[in-house]
Amino acid sequence: MIEKRDNTIMIHTARSTYQMMVGRYGHLLHLYYGPRREDLAPLPELADRGFSGNPYEAENDRTYSLDALPQEFPTLGTGDFRSPLLILRDAEGVLGCDLRFVSAEIRPGKYGLPGFPAVYDDAGETLEVTLQSTKPSLTVRLYYGVLGELDVITRAAMVCAGEDLIIEKAQTACLDFTFGEYERMIFWGRHTMERVPDRGPVNHGNFSMESRRGMSSHHYNPFMILMDPDATEDSGRCWSMQFVYSGGFKAEIEKDSYGQTRMQMGLFQDQLAYPLKAGEELVLPEVIMSFSDCGLGRLSRNHHDVIRRHLCRGPWRDAVRPVLLNSWEACYFDFDGDKILSMARSAADLGVEMIVMDDGWFGERTDDIRGLGDLWYNEARMGCTLSELVDGVHDLGLKFGIWMEPEAISENSDLYREHPDWALAVPGRSPVRSRYQLLLDFSRDDVVDEMYRRICAVLDSGADYLKWDLNRSIADVYSSGDAVPGQVLYDYVKNLYRLLEQILERYPDLLIEGCAGGGGRFDAGMLYYCPQIWCSDNTDAVDRLTIQYGTSFGYPPCTMGAHVSVVPNHQTGRVTPFATRGAVAMAGTFGYELDPRKLSSEEKAAVREQIKCFHEDAPLVMDGEYYRLSDPLADPYSAWVFVARDGSRAKVTAVRTGGADDVRAADIAVKVRGLDVDAQYVIDETGAMLAGRTLMDSGLPLPPATEEYQCYVWHLKKAR
Ligand code: GLA
Repeated sequence: MIEKRDNTIMIHTARSTYQMMVGRYGHLLHLYYGPRREDLAPLPELADRGFSGNPYEAENDRTYSLDALPQEFPTLGTGDFRSPLLILRDAEGVLGCDLRFVSAEIRPGKYGLPGFPAVYDDAGETLEVTLQSTKPSLTVRLYYGVLGELDVITRAAMVCAGEDLIIEKAQTACLDFTFGEYERMIFWGRHTMERVPDRGPVNHGNFSMESRRGMSSHHYNPFMILMDPDATEDSGRCWSMQFVYSGGFKAEIEKDSYGQTRMQMGLFQDQLAYPLKAGEELVLPEVIMSFSDCGLGRLSRNHHDVIRRHLCRGPWRDAVRPVLLNSWEACYFDFDGDKILSMARSAADLGVEMIVMDDGWFGERTDDIRGLGDLWYNEARMGCTLSELVDGVHDLGLKFGIWMEPEAISENSDLYREHPDWALAVPGRSPVRSRYQLLLDFSRDDVVDEMYRRICAVLDSGADYLKWDLNRSIADVYSSGDAVPGQVLYDYVKNLYRLLEQILERYPDLLIEGCAGGGGRFDAGMLYYCPQIWCSDNTDAVDRLTIQYGTSFGYPPCTMGAHVSVVPNHQTGRVTPFATRGAVAMAGTFGYELDPRKLSSEEKAAVREQIKCFHEDAPLVMDGEYYRLSDPLADPYSAWVFVARDGSRAKVTAVRTGGADDVRAADIAVKVRGLDVDAQYVIDETGAMLAGRTLMDSGLPLPPATEEYQCYVWHLKKAR
C-alpha cells in the first residue's frame, strides 16, 4: 500500500515500511526502510558539520546539509560527498546536476519497463516520482513497485534529457541508513565455483563489488545483503538488492564519516558514457529490494517467490520441467545423429523426458577453436537432417533440446570471414580472445537481426528447448556500428533482451535454459526469459552443495539447472555416491549429463528410481518453501528442506561432507526449519512419528555413514 500525505510518502508491505519525504528545499529524502510502522521516522538531528555544504536556499543555516541527510536518488554536485547514483556531463563538460521534486503519482498495478525485464504484478502498485534539474535540463522518473505480500519493493528509473547529456554513472537504487553497525553478504566466485557467500563487516570507506565483464558474471553476482551483525537464518534484520540486469554492474556499500551507511546498485560505471540527445531517455534497469526482520531465510524466500511467480514467465513458469539428458559430458564434440538417437533410445528406456544436443552440431564446429557463428546444422557430419533427428527423438516420446551460443563468433568461421567487423574489437588493436573466440557486436541491430534469422532457421525444425550459452566475458568495447563506446555494453544487453523476446514471441512454448560457461549469467534479468539457468559447469555433487547453497540466497532452487554426471567427476576427479549426485541434482531442475548406454544395470535401476522420486517431489521444489539447514562452508554436512506451502509435507535432504575421517565419527542432527511446531509428522523412510517441535529443536540424527559423502533423504508427512 502506498500513501501520500503532505510532503511524505509511505509504502507498506505486509511486514515492512518504506518512507520518504520531500525536504524543505525540494530534495527527495529517504526516511526509513524496516519493520512495518505507521508513524513517520524522524530525520537525523540537523547539526552544523564542518565541510558539509548547505543548499543555497538554506541561507545562513549551516545545519541543513545533503551530506548528512538520507536520500532517494543522490547525484554528484549537490554537496552530498558520498558516492552518488547519477553522474552526468553536459555539452560543456560540466558534471553533475541538482534534482528537485516535481510530483508523485500512485497507480494500481506494478510498472513495466520498455525493452527491459521487470517484475510484473497486476495486483501490485506503482509509485512514480518525478524529479527535475534545470541546469542541466533533465527529468528523472523514479519508479517504485510494491508487491505487498512478498515484502518486495522494486526500483527503476528513467533519465530523460532536456539537452544533450552524457550519462557517466547510473545506479538505480539507493538505501541510506543514518546510523548503526551492519554486515554485508556478497556472492563471489569463478568459473566452476559460482556464488560463494562472503559475509563481513561494513567498515568506513566505500566497498564496491563489480562485474566489468559485460555480463553479470561468475565472479560477483548482482545480489547483495546488508544485515544486522547478529542476523542468522531466522533472526535479525536484513535488506537486499538484486539487479534485474544481465550485463556488468556496480554495487556499493559506503560507511561515511558520520557513521551513515549507503547501499546502492546499478550499471557498471567504468565503460559507461551514454550519450542522450535532448528528448531521449535512458532506462535504469530494475533493482528488487526486500526486507526481513526474521533473518536471511525469510529474505531468501521473498526473492524466491518474486522470481518464480513475478519474473519468470510463460508456460514453463509453473510447470515441472522435463528430466533432461545433456550430451556435453557424455560426448563433448564427438557425436553424430546416430549417437544422439542411440543415447535418446537408452535415455527413453530409463524414463528421461528430453535429450539435449549440446555444442558440436553446427558448421565446422568439431572443437572449440572453430565454427561459432555458423549456426547451420551440419547434415554431412551429423548423417541426417535436423528434422529427421528431431522427429526421431520425438518418435521415442522424448522432447528435443539444442545448444547455441548466439552471441559468439570464431575467427575460423564463414560468418567471421564474411563480416569481420561484426566482432567486437577496437580498431588498430588486437582483440582479447577467450576460449579461442570473440563476441558478436550485439549493440548492432543488423547483427542481432541476422542471428535471429539463423536461430529461427534451426528452431523451426521443432526443437522444444534451447540452451543459450555464452562462453566468455566482453573485453573489447567498441562497435563498428552507430553506438559510441560508452553505450556499447548497455546496448548489447538491451539487444540481447530484444532478441530473446522475439524468439519467445515466435516460439511461445520454447523452454530456454540460460547458461554462460555454467552460471556466469545467473541473474534476475535472464530469468525473465529463461525460467532455468545452468547453475555451474561444475557437476561435482559436493562442490554443487556450496554452489547451490550460495545461489539459494537470491534465487529459487527451481531455477537452478542441476544434473547427475559420472564419477570420477570430470571437473574435480571426486567420486561421490550415485544417490548423492541424484539427491543434490533434485534440489534443482533435474537431469543427467552422461551416456546412458554406459550405465551399469544397478545405475540404470537407480536412474529409474530417481526419476520417479523427482516427479513425486517436483511440486515441492517448484512451489514449496526452501529453508537452508546448514552452512556447508562451515559445517561437516549440508542440509536443506522443502516444505509444502500448506505445510502438509516436507522433504529433508542432508549430505555428509566431513571427509573420510569424519564419515562415521561425527554425530550430526539436522534441525529442520519451517515445520508446524505443534503438529506430528510421520517420516516415510522410518515410519517414526515425531513432533514438529522435536524435529526443529533436536533434529534428525544422521545414521552412521557406510560411504563417503553419503546422503540422507526424509519425507515428512503431517499427521495432525
Ligand atoms: C559451456 C557450458 C557447457 C557446455 C559447453 C559447450 O561451458 O557451460 O555446459 O555447453 O559450453 O561448449
